Amino acid sequence: MANTFLVQRAEASDIPALGELLDSVFRPQLVPGQGMPKEFPHLICAENAHNIYFVSDNGRPVSMVAVLIQETVFQGVTMPVVSIGSVCTRRAYEGRGISSQILDQVIRDLKADEIPLMLVSGTRGLYRRIHCVPVGKMYEVEWSADAAVAATSEVAAGQELFRVCEIPGEQKGAVSKRLAAIYRAEAYRFRRTDEQMEQLLDALWFQRDGHDQRLFTIEQGTNTVAYAVAYEDKDRPGIVTVMEWAGSRTAFLMSATPILKAFGATKLVWHVHVDDCEMRAKLRTMGITATTMSLQGTVRALDVPRLFSYLQPILRERFGGEVKAVETDGKWRVQSPLPTMEFTDIEDIVRWLFDHEENCLRIPFVHTDDLNFI
Ligand SMILES: CC(C)(COP(=O)(O)OP(=O)(O)OC[C@H]1O[C@@H](n2cnc3c(N)ncnc32)[C@H](O)[C@@H]1OP(=O)(O)O)[C@@H](O)C(=O)NCCC(=O)NCCS
Repeated sequence: MANTFLVQRAEASDIPALGELLDSVFRPQLVPGQGMPKEFPHLICAENAHNIYFVSDNGRPVSMVAVLIQETVFQGVTMPVVSIGSVCTRRAYEGRGISSQILDQVIRDLKADEIPLMLVSGTRGLYRRIHCVPVGKMYEVEWSADAAVAATSEVAAGQELFRVCEIPGEQKGAVSKRLAAIYRAEAYRFRRTDEQMEQLLDALWFQRDGHDQRLFTIEQGTNTVAYAVAYEDKDRPGIVTVMEWAGSRTAFLMSATPILKAFGATKLVWHVHVDDCEMRAKLRTMGITATTMSLQGTVRALDVPRLFSYLQPILRERFGGEVKAVETDGKWRVQSPLPTMEFTDIEDIVRWLFDHEENCLRIPFVHTDDLNFI
């Protein structure tokens, strides 16, 4: 193959061959086409074909990158982002710069489409070289079954406040609308319609090989007040990880013991958004410790002035007037009512906006750790 590759955007007819490529790299133990395309039907499908980029050799796809354009909602701001996933190259073609070249093309196209920010589902050198950085902060909570029982039994003994229901596969569609409304009440999240909720519940994780993935709703009286999508990975028996949860914080905490019992597991792990003051206060009151980490994956600014314009309501409040980013002589200058600031690269700007280190703005980013993250 030549050193520059013809990067194509897929058409509906390319989807089966791309599904085969994906499974041969990510799910080699499965029948090709039965793994990733079923786990990610919103990504690997005819409707999204135009957002799948690939390189072929002799008519067979050898490398691909899938792109999903979504919207995030945080602090009253709705901002389009693009999520990047399913990045793969067949073993025999690795290390020739094919993925790098596809990603360059993706970035060029998305800039032209005026998308301000890109979320990437990985942290490796391949992404760091194209200016992606880990940002933000979230908490990871680990709760042992014994500690959960000890912390909640006093409340539970008083009266049955909450009822935890495991929803069987065939009933997921029936509850998805209710759960979508609970998800939408969360402050930091992706924009998600009822239909997307149904599709995500049905597909993204429930069909994943080797993951015992289950859906629990938490009921109070006649109302569903919270839910949790939790899985036990066959390689980590006894540990249940919550993939997504939303709704009443008290109800979620009270559901830990029934969820662990349903799996016969000994430890529950879940993530908490940095600005989730209510959950953090409850954790402190109950003596539960949490470790801090960056948000999943990495982030890259595609269009800095546009990013600033989306963030303007937040920036304006912090700086007391308009805040603009202007590029001159290869440097970025941030102009505001305060003295001008200078940044040498886009990584520094993204860190300054979203990181939680000293001198950063700590704009609470969307909670990427959920079913939308690809
Ligand atoms: C990761 C993967 C997609 C890379 O595909 P590729 O076509 O070989 O990618 P490229 O040749 O453009 O560059 C990738 C590798 O080549 C080397 N490389 C290429 N250009 C380089 C450069 N300019 N400087 C240094 N190293 C370079 C590196 O080893 C690099 O991998 P890294 O991320 O570990 O740093 C491929 O190895 C793969 O499919 N892996 C299995 C699936 C997977 O893990 N996907 C990523 C999910 S996050």
